[in-house]
Amino acid sequence: MQQIKEKLLQALEAAKASKSAESLEKIRIDFLGRKGSITTLAKNADFSKMSVEEKKGFGQRLNELKTFASEQIKAASEALEATVVRHKSNDLDLTAPGKGRRLGALHPITLAQMELEDIFQGMGFSVLYGPEVESEHYCFESVNIPHDHPARDMQDTFWLKNQLILRTHTSANQVRTLERFGAPIRAIFPGRCFRYESIDPSHENTFYQCEGLVVDKDISVANLIAVMKTILSQVFRRDVRVRLRPGYFPFVEPGFELDLNCLFCGGKGCPTCGDGWIELIPCGLVHPQVLRFGGVDPREYSGFAFGVGLTRLAMMKYGIRDIRYLNCGDLRVNEQFSVLM
Ligand code: PHE
Repeated sequence: MQQIKEKLLQALEAAKASKSAESLEKIRIDFLGRKGSITTLAKNADFSKMSVEEKKGFGQRLNELKTFASEQIKAASEALEATVVRHKSNDLDLTAPGKGRRLGALHPITLAQMELEDIFQGMGFSVLYGPEVESEHYCFESVNIPHDHPARDMQDTFWLKNQLILRTHTSANQVRTLERFGAPIRAIFPGRCFRYESIDPSHENTFYQCEGLVVDKDISVANLIAVMKTILSQVFRRDVRVRLRPGYFPFVEPGFELDLNCLFCGGKGCPTCGDGWIELIPCGLVHPQVLRFGGVDPREYSGFAFGVGLTRLAMMKYGIRDIRYLNCGDLRVNEQFSVLM
């Protein structure tokens, strides 16, 4: 009996290693089946030669062996089944493509803004942010656009019920900044602006500008041009061609339009630029009236201001041909720029 027990344990060990349900069934038949060794042992026992005591003892041990054998086999088959179920529920397919984690990415305008902030800070400019919800005073009056001025027509905006508006340009920060810090000052104000516009590939009702303001003694147009050229060649990492045209803005005198030679077509003319030039940076010398509004004496100080079209700059830099992609909220737009950090 002891021998049978040992054999059984050996066979079970082997079956566990092979993890096959068939080998367990074979063990059951080999030991407990009709011709199995335990059954045979009982059949072949010669009871006639045993005393009553011996018969009793033999029967008891035989039953114990049977119970032991069937329990062991049952336990082994349950363990085997459990591992099979576990594999099934994991649905483990080592060849399946992994579950990728989507990485966030900065918006192209944010990237352009961060880069501009870096470049300007390198030239000693402070970076300031003003409110998007603005008063008429700072947005218009303080920059020389009184109520009845025709320039207001070009900058219609969203009017809120409490007399406040969504700012139409970052120039709203000019007088805010002069009032707060006085002269001399060198600062940029990047931020979001809003206008009542009909939307097309190059116009949006929500867009970004980056205003710049320098007020100091003896500031001239030469300083303005030098700063603009330095900035743009750093942004585009190559020498860019620019041109200055006269432009009118009530808060600068003289005022200019700084145009960038189109980077898509090299100046030949294309659907993005039209005639080869992209209107990029309106600028000029700060109007004496604006300095006065800010509490700065125009006889002592002069300055220049510019308004970089940040949205347009990002489009030029990253080759985005339709402004509507930028506000569409489709992550596929951003994801293309995740490697540019
Ligand atoms: N604020 C003007 C606009 O949005 C741009 C500008 C800024 C022009 C600074 C001159 C100087 O159109």
